[in-house]
Amino acid sequence: MNDHDGVNLAVVGLGNWGKNVARSFAACRGVRLGYVCDESPGVLARQAPLYPTATATDDYEAVLRDPRVDAVALVTPAPAHYEMVREALLAGKHVFVEKPLTLLAREAENLVDLAKSRERKLMVGHLLEYHPAVTLMKQQIDAGALGQIHYMYCQRLNLGVVRQCENAFWSLAPHDISIILYLFGSEPEEVTATGTCFLQKGIEDVVFAHLRFPDGRMAQIHVSWLDPHKERKMTVVGSEKMLVFDDMHPSEKIRVFDKGATIPTEATSPLAPITVRHGDIHVPHLSSQPPLDIETQHFIDCVLFDRTPRSDGEDGLRVVRVLERVERQLHPAHVFAGVSEGFAPEDGVSAGFSPSATAERLA
Ligand SMILES: NC(=O)c1ccc[n+]([C@@H]2O[C@H](COP(=O)([O-])OP(=O)(O)OC[C@H]3O[C@@H](n4cnc5c(N)ncnc54)[C@H](O)[C@@H]3O)[C@@H](O)[C@H]2O)c1
Repeated sequence: MNDHDGVNLAVVGLGNWGKNVARSFAACRGVRLGYVCDESPGVLARQAPLYPTATATDDYEAVLRDPRVDAVALVTPAPAHYEMVREALLAGKHVFVEKPLTLLAREAENLVDLAKSRERKLMVGHLLEYHPAVTLMKQQIDAGALGQIHYMYCQRLNLGVVRQCENAFWSLAPHDISIILYLFGSEPEEVTATGTCFLQKGIEDVVFAHLRFPDGRMAQIHVSWLDPHKERKMTVVGSEKMLVFDDMHPSEKIRVFDKGATIPTEATSPLAPITVRHGDIHVPHLSSQPPLDIETQHFIDCVLFDRTPRSDGEDGLRVVRVLERVERQLHPAHVFAGVSEGFAPEDGVSAGFSPSATAERLA
């Protein structure tokens, strides 16, 4: 650490989400907000007065050149992540970067290797991995409270926000993917997806993705910004119990259903019918601490106490791998050979996350 007893942090990108991230980091224990940085003069003018002890700048390179800065938090658009993370790691900074880590798995691999070789922390803002409800789900699953996990499915639906440079999957699904991989503790061996563009050519409004894991478990993701319901829901079905995480519910975010089916065995009566069980519904108490505050404090603690972040670079890479596999299903003609910069949309040939249209296309 530097000339103080905490992490000297620069928050870069103070836009829609970055202003929340900056506020949360500023309130962490063990942190000194050294810089707030945004290349937009208007954004900087609005946010800088909130952090009078931090230096306000539009110059990211100057932040990286300052040896007093231990770590940067990048809350910039996804196409910029690869280069900005790379530069920060090369400058010797620990990095928190918003999801998705990169647009291409190959780029994410490079960053994971770089962070390892430079012995720097790399953490991705997979916010929901820090949600108290997801922590509880993980504990229940790992403790076997639901029995053997058969499958889970996620719905992230709304009417809008309709984005123009990324499809509904890139916009909404990174959270679902990160939760599924975190809960299952493994990567899918098979990824299939289908989606349709109703509003804009080449940009899917609704996507269904199907993940099959080596042990037979499966997960389904349904995302849409063209839906009458506002849903953020996950359902996990185990052999003993079933669990629903409804993030839209104000108080009962988790409900555990003592429901299941009993299959007759040789030891009992193999010819008896399968019976189903309808038991009690349990609503566990959850901490009301905002996931963002848990996430930002976790990053600071990982830097201070030399711990591996829960959503480290490897985790970010696994999520990007799934995103990329879905992208290949939706846009099979694309080859991911490009880098994230310099995106110029071609009429009607945008990839799901249009910046990946920098990728070369096969003839
Ligand atoms: N974890 C979550 O729940 C969550 C929610 C929303 C957004 N995000 C992620 O946060 C990131 C930012 O999203 P947003 O909605 O805040 O975008 P935004 O466009 O509102 O803000 C991005 C800001 O970054 C600034 N910026 C871009 N390049 C810069 C550079 N080189 N130097 C300094 N500033 C630069 C822009 O001026 C802008 O103010 C994205 O990766 C997005 O996926 C995460």
